[in-house]
Formats: sequence, C-alpha cells, structure tokens
Amino acid sequence: MTGTGSGEFARREAEQLRARYTAQYRRSLDDPDGFWLEAARAVEWDRRPRAALDDSDAPLYRWFPDGELNTAHNALDRHVAAGRGDTDALIWDSPVTGSRSRHTYRELRDAVATFAGALRSLGVSRGDRVIIYLPMVPEAVVAMLACARLGAVHSVVFGGFAPKELAARVEDARPTVVVTASCGVEPSRVVEYVPIVREALSTTSHQPDHVVVLQRETARAELRGGERDWAELVSTAEPAGPVTVAATDPLYILYTSGTTGRPKGVVRDTGGHAVALAWSMANVYGIGPGDVWWTASDVGWVVGHSYIVYAPLLVGATTVLFEGKPVGTPDAGAFWRVAAEYGVNALFTAPTAIRAIKRVDPEGAELAHHDLSGLRTLFLAGERLDPQTHHWASERLRVPVIDHWWQTETGWPIAANPRGLAPLPVKPGSATVPMPGWDVRVLDQSGAEQPAGQEGAITVRLPLPPGALPTLWGDDDRFVESYLSRYEGHYLTGDSGYVDSDGYLFVMGRTDDVINVAGHRLSTGAMEAVLAEHPAVAECAVIGVRDELKGQLPRGFVVLKAGAEIAEDRLRDELVAAVRAQIGPVAAFRDVAVVEALPKTRSGKVLRKTMRAIADGRDEPAPSTIEDPEVLTTLRSVLRTAP
Ligand code: COA
Ligand code: AMP
Repeated sequence: MTGTGSGEFARREAEQLRARYTAQYRRSLDDPDGFWLEAARAVEWDRRPRAALDDSDAPLYRWFPDGELNTAHNALDRHVAAGRGDTDALIWDSPVTGSRSRHTYRELRDAVATFAGALRSLGVSRGDRVIIYLPMVPEAVVAMLACARLGAVHSVVFGGFAPKELAARVEDARPTVVVTASCGVEPSRVVEYVPIVREALSTTSHQPDHVVVLQRETARAELRGGERDWAELVSTAEPAGPVTVAATDPLYILYTSGTTGRPKGVVRDTGGHAVALAWSMANVYGIGPGDVWWTASDVGWVVGHSYIVYAPLLVGATTVLFEGKPVGTPDAGAFWRVAAEYGVNALFTAPTAIRAIKRVDPEGAELAHHDLSGLRTLFLAGERLDPQTHHWASERLRVPVIDHWWQTETGWPIAANPRGLAPLPVKPGSATVPMPGWDVRVLDQSGAEQPAGQEGAITVRLPLPPGALPTLWGDDDRFVESYLSRYEGHYLTGDSGYVDSDGYLFVMGRTDDVINVAGHRLSTGAMEAVLAEHPAVAECAVIGVRDELKGQLPRGFVVLKAGAEIAEDRLRDELVAAVRAQIGPVAAFRDVAVVEALPKTRSGKVLRKTMRAIADGRDEPAPSTIEDPEVLTTLRSVLRTAP
C-alpha cells in the first residue's frame, strides 16, 4: 500500500471510530431509556426493570425504579454459578508487610458470605450503615461486599484522616457497626487504627453497637469491651446469602470534601451503579472476564470503590489490591514489578504516582527489569494530567496513556477516551470526550454556553446518568443547593475548562475551595476552620498552590489578632500540628505565613482566586472590586516566594 493509501485508510478508520462513539453518545441523550435498559442487560436482576429513568421527583432523578438486585451476587455468586469459581477474583500484594494472597471467585464469595453472616449476628440488616476504616487489605474488599450482600450501606473512611474526620462521618452516617484493623502500615510508620477509632467515638453522640477489629501481626491491638475480634467472629458465623434490594436503595455513602468543613455524604444507589460500572468497564477500559486489572489507588477514595472493588468484579475480571506506594516500597520499580508479576492488562492510577516514579527514576531504568508485554493501557485520573507526565509515561511504557475526568459524585468517568468502544486519537491535556449520559455544557457567569475554546464552568445537563449520585445522605436540600442551584437544570461540577473544536474537553481546575493534593481531594475551607480556632489568629486563608510532585499543596496565610504575643515559628508549628491532628496527615499542610492583612473585596470576601493565581506565577491584576490594592501589592512577594 502507498503512503497515501495507508494514510487514507487510517483517516477512514478514525472517522468510523468517531462515528461509532458519536452514535452511542447521541443515543444515550436522545433515548436514555433505550440506551440504559440495554446496558442493564449486563447485570443479573432479581426483578428486571421495565423503566430506566424516573423523573417524577425532578430535579431529583432515580434510575431503574422498579428493578431489584443484589450487587454482591452480581460481583461474585453469578461468576461462580457461570463456572468461573476457580478464576482469580482478588490478588493482594503488600510490600509493606511482605505478604501476598489470592482469592478465587469461589473463595471470595465464601469469605464475603461468612463476614456478612458475622455482621448479621451483630444486628446489621438491610439499610443499616457500617463504617469501614481499614487499610489496603483483602478484608476491606470483603467487608464492603459483605455489606452489599446484606443490603447494608457501607461508608469507607480513608486511613489518612484524623479522628475528628472519622467522628464527623460516624455522626452523619450513624453506623450500627464500625469495622477497623489493629493497624495500617505506611512506609515511614505503623498507624494504629484502634486508638483513632476510640478517640473519634469518645466525641460522637452516636455510638455504634459494635466495633470489629481485624488483628494484623505488624501491631496487634488490646481489645476492650464492645470491641470484637474479626477472626473470632467469622469462626462461628453462619454464611449469609444475598438480600434482594431495590435498584434505588443506597449501596454506599462516601464522604468527600466540599467547600466547607462539613464533608458531603455522596450516596451511591444500587442498580444505576452496577449498570454504569459494567458499561464503563467494557466500553471505557476495554476489560472483561479473564483480564487482570489493577487500580493503584485506595479503597477509601471513589477510584478505589469503583475500580478496585466493584467494576472489575462485576465484569468477572481479576482485580489487584496493592498495599504500597509507587516509590519507596521498596523502589521506583514497584509498579512495574506488580504489573509484570500478575500479567496486568491495564493499570489505573493518579498522575502523582507517575510523577513520583519519574522523579526517582527519570529514565525509567527500572522498566528494563520487568516484562510488561501484557500491559495494554495506562489510565490516569484524579487530578490534572500535565502533558510532560503524559509524554514520559507513553514514551517509557509504549502503551496508550489515557487521561479521564470524574469525581466522587459521579462514580465513573464524565469524560474519557472509550478504549473498549471506539479508541479515539489522544490529545495530551484533554480528558477526551463526554461519556454516554453526560450532557456536558461549558457555561459563562450568566449561564450562556461558551463557544469552542472559551473557558467556563463545566456543568452537566440533568438528568445525570446512572451511577451518579442521586442525592447527599439525608440531605436533599444540600444536594440541590450545592450542585443544582447555580445553573438551573444543570449539575455544577466545580471544575472549569473548555471544549475545543473537535469536541475534546480540557479540564483546567476547580472554581471552588477544593484542592487536589497527590490525587487526594481536600477542602481548604476545612483547613481554614482549623487555623481560625487558634487563639492568636484573627483571619486566615488557605489556598492550593501548584506543586511539581503532588499537583497542589496547601499554603496558609494568617493575620494575627492585635496584641497577640507568640513567636512566628511557634505559631507555625502549632498550626501545622493542628491541621494534622484535626484533618489528618494526608492534608500535607506544612506551610503557613504570617501576613499583615489579606486582600479582600469591598464586601469583605478574601480574594483567594487572585492569591492562587499569583502564587502559581500568573500575572494576575488586582480585581476592580478590591478594597485596598496596597494589601495585594505587599502580599505579592510573599505569594511568589516558594516556601
Ligand atoms: N493511612 C495513614 N496515613 C496515610 C495514608 C493512609 N492510608 N495515606 C497517606 N498517609 C499519610 C502519609 O503517611 C504521609 O504522612 P507523613 O506526613 O507522616 O509522611 C501523609 O499522609 C501524606 O501522604 P501522601 O500523600 O501519600 O504523600 P507521600 O509523600 O507519603 O507520598 C506519593 C507521595 C505521590 C507517593 C503518594 O501521594 C501517592 O502514592 N499518591 C497517589 C495517590 C492516589 O492513589 N490517589 C487516589 C486518587 S486516584
Ligand atoms: P475526587 O472527587 O476526589 O475524585 O476529585 C475530583 C476532582 O479531581 C475533580 O473535580 C477535578 O477537579 C479533579 N480531577 C479528577 N480527574 C481529573 C482529570 N483527569 N483532569 C483534571 N482534573 C481532574
């Protein structure tokens, strides 16, 4: 074939793929019932839904209102019944403890049924909440699926949060049981979980009936009255079968940072979630039965919920659970070792993890020691993927590197490159195109749609597709107020960005006080609340500034109360310690400056956006609404100075 001929062939093929994607996308918006009822066939229902969308309570929408199912049955039992019981479901690799294990689908089903029986013996039944505060161990997956089996609602809390954050979640979710472990293992230290749970529960008005503790050999816990040993409980438990629930019943609550100190309890329903995740696994990630899939994240985040636990098991793939870090456990080859050892077909992680590896091993020399021939794709999400990291990963790994964009609220990608359905050309810096059901609109302040190339607020026209949050736990009003009230008929993502002339979406950053530190979503508002409690602090602001490794890092600015007598160093240490104690080490809050005043508008609003822009090196002029331009002039040099 001539060069022109092969060019023509490639062009036509690209057009066909684009048309295939467009046809699916259009159908999902024009005929959502038809599209999603067809997608629902990938799930085994106890009662097959006859309708997809229920809009009778708009702007609150429900999916599959008359459907009934059980998610644990779909993730486990159905694969065993289909003769795949001996296939690996879960591979655990823990360099921090030097352990590893495998569970086949049958073994995982049995472990889940037994732990579900144990939870039932403690009084947990359909609709009850269970808080899971566990490190990256197989029992975290078992506990989540055991709740799903009983129709109970789990709420997993990330291990890097402090007791106060755990307490806020206990108070809101009001769990019957808290499941925890004696410890988690970080490279630099052993984190004892039981004292954290005790401290949290010493402050909450709600008390769970039981605390279940998984004893780990690294550091066993001395149990007190009311605390039950996981191993003892399961040794006498009767296995429990899957409980049929309504598709609209909650499967889990996952708390995420909002703009205030009070976390938002994102609710995930049962039916929509199963359907959307199964669709995404096949069509976005191109993964099905027999594939080995690895998401290097944490079960405490949405990425872990959707793509360590539920999605790979719903489609009968093998999922890898990794208790380690990209570097230092023991080296920058850890990811490549795991991928090679288990024949991983696709890896999903956060850009930060790749930046961490690149920093330690810039040439990618570690790759030479591992056979990655099984790896087909690297998926990255959780924060903006900078083009340098994109190029580094694609050049070293020689597989497509796929950026995709989503949020705790959405549960699965809003925008992605649908590798399974129709691989589209990759544009570094773009999350590619909206996925079915996501009617993405970029709006200006007045709500008018922005033309191609113009940045604005990224919104999604209602209804959101299956899998997205139907509401916030126990608080429809807060759901409507936080997400649906800024632009009528639209969900506000909180991100800004633009769509280019090819329809590719570029996500540029948050428009609110949410920051992203090493792929961890945090609220600067929550950090400000901690700083403001200090007796010497009159006013404060926390902003997220760009960081080469972690994407963003928080920086605090405090104004002292008149007459406050405290050495700046001491104040700084106290504030850093307070954020660590009240939010957790994961906040990575280490930098706080004492300043004369904060720049404000005439109505008294701190100009955080302007401060952020200056700190990131952009030449931001003072807005016309500024009260005293001098304050900003003085602050400019502080902001520009790296800590
Ligand atoms: N339990 C307890 N503490 C935890 C924790 C957990 N599960 N996870 C993190 N922490 C602690 C760390 O020990 C550290 O504490 P320290 O201040 O005492 O050192 C602090 O929180 C910050 O941790 P981390 O953000 O992990 O930074 P790091 O410098 O230890 O490691 C990276 C940097 C890039 C290696 C790491 O952030 C990483 O792997 N990021 C990928 C993130 C990810 O998967 N995100 C999920 C979204 S997809
Ligand atoms: P979380 O809810 O923790 O998943 O965080 C969601 C937020 O992370 C989004 O609102 C974005 O600000 C950011 N984010 C996630 N993925 C991407 C991406 N691919 N590109 C840019 N930002 C992203």
